[in-house]
Amino acid sequence: MDEIFRRGECRNFKELTPVPDEQLLTLVKAGMQARSVGNQKDRDFIIVTREDLVKAISHNSIVAGPARKASAAIVIVGKKEGVSFPDEWSFDCAAAAENILLEAEHLGLGSLWLQVYPYQDRKIHLCNILDIPTELDPFCIVVIGYAERKPVVLNRFDEREVSYDLYTNHKK
Ligand SMILES: Cc1cc2nc3c(=O)[nH]c(=O)nc-3n(C[C@H](O)[C@H](O)[C@H](O)COP(=O)(O)O)c2cc1C
Repeated sequence: MDEIFRRGECRNFKELTPVPDEQLLTLVKAGMQARSVGNQKDRDFIIVTREDLVKAISHNSIVAGPARKASAAIVIVGKKEGVSFPDEWSFDCAAAAENILLEAEHLGLGSLWLQVYPYQDRKIHLCNILDIPTELDPFCIVVIGYAERKPVVLNRFDEREVSYDLYTNHKK
C-alpha cells in the first residue's frame, strides 16, 4: 500500500488553510472502520475546526505545539462503560487513530498523532476545553492540515528486527 511507504514527517502546517468538512468526515469514517475488540463500540470522535479550540489544543502538552497551525483536529475518545471488554478501549482507539492517519495520507493531507492517554493532566485539559465528560477517556488527538513543505520520506525497514520461525533465527 503506497500510502504507508511514501508517508513522511509532518509537524509544520500551512496556517489557516481549512480542510473541507467532507474530508474530515471521511477521516472519521476511516477511524470508525477500524477493527475493535469483539467489534465493540468503545470510541467517539470529535472533529474540531474552531480556530480558538485548535489553538487551545496546541497547549495540551509540551509536545502538542504542532497543532498551533493545524487546520483541524480529530480527538478520539475512549468509552469503557457498558462494553464487553472495558480494558481494551485504548487498543481500539489506537487502531482508529492509525486508520485516520493513513486515510489522511491518501487524501493528501498532513497529519500528526498527539498523545493524550495515559497523562492525567492532558486528559483534564482536553475535557475542560472540549466539554468531554470526565468519565470518558480522551485517547489521542490527530491534527490535520496541509504540510508546509514536502515531507521527507524515511525507509524504516531494518532486517535486524526480523527473525524467521525462531526469535534467534535472522536473515533467510
Ligand atoms: C503513540 C504515539 C504518540 C505520539 N505523540 C506525539 C506527541 O504528543 N507529539 C508529537 O509531536 N508527536 C507525537 N507522535 C508522533 C511521533 O513522534 C512520530 O510519529 C515519530 O516521531 C515519527 O515521525 P513521523 O510520524 O513524522 O514519521 C506520536 C506518535 C505515536 C505513535
